[in-house]
Amino acid sequence: MNRRMFLAYILVPVFSAIGLALIGYGGRDKKVAKPLGRVTLPPPRHDSSVSIERALMVRRSIREYEDKPLTLEQVGQLAWAAQGITDKRYGFRSAPSAGATYPLEVYFIVKKNGVTGLPEGIYHYLPREHMLELIKSGDYSRELMRACLDQEWVANAAMNIVITAIYERTTWRYGERGRIRYVHMEVGHVGQNIYLQCVSLQLGCVVIGAFYDEEVKKILGVDEEPLYVIPVGVKKGGWF
Ligand SMILES: Cc1cc2nc3c(=O)[nH]c(=O)nc-3n(C[C@H](O)[C@H](O)[C@H](O)COP(=O)(O)O)c2cc1C
Repeated sequence: MNRRMFLAYILVPVFSAIGLALIGYGGRDKKVAKPLGRVTLPPPRHDSSVSIERALMVRRSIREYEDKPLTLEQVGQLAWAAQGITDKRYGFRSAPSAGATYPLEVYFIVKKNGVTGLPEGIYHYLPREHMLELIKSGDYSRELMRACLDQEWVANAAMNIVITAIYERTTWRYGERGRIRYVHMEVGHVGQNIYLQCVSLQLGCVVIGAFYDEEVKKILGVDEEPLYVIPVGVKKGGWF
């Protein structure tokens, strides 16, 4: 990469991100659900006894779970793995993003007794604050299962993570290439982060791409494009 390309690719996005942050642009200029309350997540761990090689070796899509709740620590860890801030200075995150435009949003659809200490509802992750905001109360797990062509692991999981995209955050800089490539590449990075983090937490998950977009949007109540639904539960028998 020559000097000019470096400037165009790295510095311009960094300065525009700083500029947008200064004028308070979060890019969530579409229909956004009004938060009903906030939950502080426990700080994420940055180390574990499971090596990255081990996690890569054993990772599988898991569709059967123990009938046990998750902990708030596990939810916080998964949120951080998906989109946590790992560089406070520039706001860079755990998953790469084209020009640091960060088009993805993360939601947790928690079923009744799915997470200890977290009432059933739909929560939106705030990476900067490492907090959840409650956007809808109630158990939406069966509705979500129907939206996912009746894949029963959706309703059996303690919770589902939904990753949505706000394409404009990326297309205003990269045009159509942002929509047909970059944003979809990014959700793959996030999905793999969640898979590997699940192994380390003795949890199981599966990424789901087969669902009715409009139905999932209606459940979330946001005008964002859902890309992945990811059921998560305690893995039967553990990983090791
Ligand atoms: C883009 C994408 C969409 C997928 N959609 C579904 C799905 O709708 N339902 C499902 O049960 N698994 C789904 N999967 C999981 C695959 O079936 C799974 O990754 C594959 O069988 C390989 O198994 P492994 O993940 O255990 O290695 C999807 C995976 C990807 C990458």
